[in-house]
Amino acid sequence: MNATWRKNMQIKFDYNNMMKEFVGDDGFSDGDIAEGKKIAAEAYAKVAENRGKGMMGWTELPYNQKEIVADILATAKEIKKKFDNFVVLGIGGSALGPTAVFQALCHLRHNELPKSKRKYPKLYVEDNVDPERMSALLDVLDLNKTMFNVVTKSGATSETMAQYLIIMNLLKNKFGDKANEHMIATTSAQKGNLIKIAKSEGLKTFYIPDGVGGRFSELCPVGLLPAAVVGIDIKNLLAGAAYMDKICMNKDMKKNPALLAALLQYLAMKKGKNISVMMPYADSLRYMADWYCQLWAESLGKATDKNGNSVYAGQTPVKALGVTDQHSQVQLYREGPFDKVITIIGVEKFRSNVTISNGCEEFPDVSFLCGHTMNELINSERVATEYALTTAGRLNHTIIMPEVNAFTVGELLYLFEMQTAFCGEMLGIDTYNQPGVEGGKNATYALFGKKGYEATKREMEEAPKKKEQYII
Ligand code: PA5
Repeated sequence: MNATWRKNMQIKFDYNNMMKEFVGDDGFSDGDIAEGKKIAAEAYAKVAENRGKGMMGWTELPYNQKEIVADILATAKEIKKKFDNFVVLGIGGSALGPTAVFQALCHLRHNELPKSKRKYPKLYVEDNVDPERMSALLDVLDLNKTMFNVVTKSGATSETMAQYLIIMNLLKNKFGDKANEHMIATTSAQKGNLIKIAKSEGLKTFYIPDGVGGRFSELCPVGLLPAAVVGIDIKNLLAGAAYMDKICMNKDMKKNPALLAALLQYLAMKKGKNISVMMPYADSLRYMADWYCQLWAESLGKATDKNGNSVYAGQTPVKALGVTDQHSQVQLYREGPFDKVITIIGVEKFRSNVTISNGCEEFPDVSFLCGHTMNELINSERVATEYALTTAGRLNHTIIMPEVNAFTVGELLYLFEMQTAFCGEMLGIDTYNQPGVEGGKNATYALFGKKGYEATKREMEEAPKKKEQYII
């Protein structure tokens, strides 16, 4: 892909409708943005200083995985030869990225296509411990033709390890000492139980680098292996991320969409905009909204800042899908509380063109659609929603993707990661920890009697008991 192609594939950030002159009083002036320059510059400096270090190892993923990518591609080739199904067992950052990228870059009915058209294995991402879901999955899988990929950075997450135990038991019952030929582990090289289990079982293993947290892990083997298995061009995915990285290292905020978007969200939060709606106008990007929701919520939702002061920071992310949610959510976005920033993602060129057929000529209220395309309709509805929100004084901005392909999806993932990193610095919080998630994990361990969690168990037992009178 040459430089011109890459330039044509550059994602654009349109923030017109965040500005006072379009959206009215709730918006920002050029002066407000200029005033935010210092905050943005400080956040930029911290990100630039820390990139590649500590928990910012994710900034290096577009550059430092040559051998890993080769291993992943070779492994994916073997999987394609031997298996019809690839099942990811993971949760949170280990599941949302693979799901989002699969939806974005594979045929939208990939798993339903006949093998001759699909060409690559089916992909299932199992991120819950609902017993009905597990039973249903096992009803449709032929274990002979299935490769599993257990993914957990900590190697300890109850949900993922429960799934592993169930599946490994089935595999051992069926394949005996060849069970390990149906399971790949993706985990930390040093920490946790999964690495020890993987070694003792002789599992093929990929590693999650120490400095890459769950929600920042899509561009390491967590996401790259499932993507390669279903035929996604992972080199181009990483190339897109590298391209966006260069853009996001621009000091000039007006040339750096991640920094500017972070500043606008930060300023909006200061005005009480506590909700961030992510609304792609493309089915291919619908799960990108889920991935963003985790990234934004878990990174920025923090009780304290880095100095231990209570800040209760964050913006509640909400996913929506254009045009579908115009008929369910947009009423609220336009007329409800002034507490949201709406991020719209538009796609200029879809991978299919569908013309709306002629007919109903005697009904002009229907026939006005004839001869147009669905492509025109979805994009016109996007523009119409932007207009409706803006005229109602609602802060919104649009990310424009020229196309949805591996390169632009790499750009998009990286753009949101950088925006999150910048915004975390502006808020002064630790973007990379998740004490709130750990709280729930620990309580589960205690309830299940895990060794080392006796104190939590006692605390939970001593907590006020629920009263029957409040259950009706
Ligand atoms: O972003 C995170 O760190 C979390 O959402 C994790 O991805 C999630 O809790 C799963 O953790 P693990 O990969 O350790 O199983």
